Amino acid sequence: MLIKDRASVAVLVSGGGTNLGALIKAERQGSMPSVNIVLVVSSNSDAYALRRAESAGIKTAFIAGSGASFENELKKILRENEIDLVVLAGFLKILSRDFVFAYKGRIINIHPSIIPAFCGRGFYGIKVHEAALKQGVKWTGATAHYVNEIPDGGEIILQKPVAVLPNDTAETLQKRVMEEAEHLILPEACEIAAKKIMKEKLK
Ligand code: GAR
Repeated sequence: MLIKDRASVAVLVSGGGTNLGALIKAERQGSMPSVNIVLVVSSNSDAYALRRAESAGIKTAFIAGSGASFENELKKILRENEIDLVVLAGFLKILSRDFVFAYKGRIINIHPSIIPAFCGRGFYGIKVHEAALKQGVKWTGATAHYVNEIPDGGEIILQKPVAVLPNDTAETLQKRVMEEAEHLILPEACEIAAKKIMKEKLK
């Protein structure tokens, strides 16, 4: 049997895929030595993230639908590709309790706020930044965390704060949070989770 020294990682996406881009770059630069991105799965057939994966030579899949049929298909493809770690990188579906239990400790997510602020059901993408501006917070940021049955409620791996500037719009804030926080802590969190999984595997 082949003994792997890197965790086989699947990245789940729904949109633009800038976080996927940051992961691909980090793997290439050697800053995620425990990570091997082998698969990108999208819930949206038009996601630009799929294009990014293809140009990086990574296998892609699109899964249509929702609920049990979506998750059964996802489980099948993760099994077939012997995936050790699942990274949610701008993946906009909420995974069921059963799915999360089946992959306990093996799913991580990036969220564009400092959890527990502006998180949970209904807080995703630009909505998170609109809520932060509406609240008038002076700092926001990003959180990388393990995924459990509570949306955005799993163990926190890393957080990074970002200042809100006086003339920020939701769009300028989103871009800065991505560039100054998400794209830095997601690869770092991915390495931490992958390293832990491989250590357990080799015990
Ligand atoms: C990112 O800001 C990510 O944190 C957010 O969606 C965006 C996806 O961008 N995810 C959530 O809000 C999940 N609750 P990307 O496709 O360019 O990586």
